Amino acid sequence: MDIRITTGARRGERPADEALGFGALFSEHLFAMDYSVEAGWHDARVEPRGDFRLDPAAAVFHYGQAMFEGCKAFRGVDGRVRLFRPDLHARRMVAGAPRLCMQAPSEAQMLSALRALVQVDVDWVPGAEGTSLYLRPTLIATEPFLGVRPSRQYRYFIIASPAGSYFGGAGLTPVRIWVERRDVRAPRGGLGATKAAANYVASLASSVKAQREGYDQVLWLDGQHHEYVEEVGTMNVCFVIGGALVTPSLSDSILAGVTRDSVLTLARERGLKVEERPVSLSELVSAHRGGHLTEVFGTGTAAVITPVGELALGEERLVIGDGAPGPLARAFSEDICAMQRGLKPDRFGWLVEVA
Ligand code: COI
Repeated sequence: MDIRITTGARRGERPADEALGFGALFSEHLFAMDYSVEAGWHDARVEPRGDFRLDPAAAVFHYGQAMFEGCKAFRGVDGRVRLFRPDLHARRMVAGAPRLCMQAPSEAQMLSALRALVQVDVDWVPGAEGTSLYLRPTLIATEPFLGVRPSRQYRYFIIASPAGSYFGGAGLTPVRIWVERRDVRAPRGGLGATKAAANYVASLASSVKAQREGYDQVLWLDGQHHEYVEEVGTMNVCFVIGGALVTPSLSDSILAGVTRDSVLTLARERGLKVEERPVSLSELVSAHRGGHLTEVFGTGTAAVITPVGELALGEERLVIGDGAPGPLARAFSEDICAMQRGLKPDRFGWLVEVA
């Protein structure tokens, strides 16, 4: 793929690594390319970051044809810059696009695009522990047309954001989770297995409600029985029950997380028993009563491993372990972060050096 590169004058200094939060600050360039039925994907470019001009009738504004990815570039202790499992992120967008009737670029085009943007904005990849350049590949429908049918024009773009911790705490800070028993993130047969923007708007009211009650995020249950666990906040969820690592099996309402896959791989490598199966609330309550539910944690690209210190189930409060991060959450987090920073060998071939 030919990518036209136009660089702009440097606009300012990047803040110190220690001052980085999540998602509010952006690098100086973006990648974009456009699709039309006649021309296919064309006009691939890296250019100074700026506003887009889109027709107010563009399909994305009306019918929500929008999906995204979240992928990270790390600066290793050797100064080299590497992407973490970018192939899985690209594959997931390619796999999800048909459910939204969208045209996606190929995996190879997405990987070239990520590489090109990171190379231009390489100075924006922070190096301190716990930091990364968060890349946000996004696909939107751009055809100006109000009939309800799939758009015939799309834009794929990537913006980049130097990032520290997602929840703002230092190291592994446990979160408090409210169990959402009424609203659902995604029903069976819906969009839940895709990274559709719609899944995130569906989650907002519950998380606002949870935060108003003093919780950080919600535990999502299935849309049919309101009993089986699906995800936690914007993450997949893992439990340690009787020493086994248990996580809900993937379905069309659960996102196939890249960090989820990485944790399951590491767990199997350690010889842990790994169970991908339905997990009900009643199982969790009885495992907690019996002292067998020793850890709960979320896994996601943005927040990596996030221990859950407490689950609120109506009036009942399940404090997990002693409320502090458990040993497996710690071990997985340390192992993944050490590989990402090049402190440990990349024994699964997960890192792709780009600069
Ligand atoms: C991720 O972990 O990358 C997510 O999907 C969270 C993001 C929406 C902030």
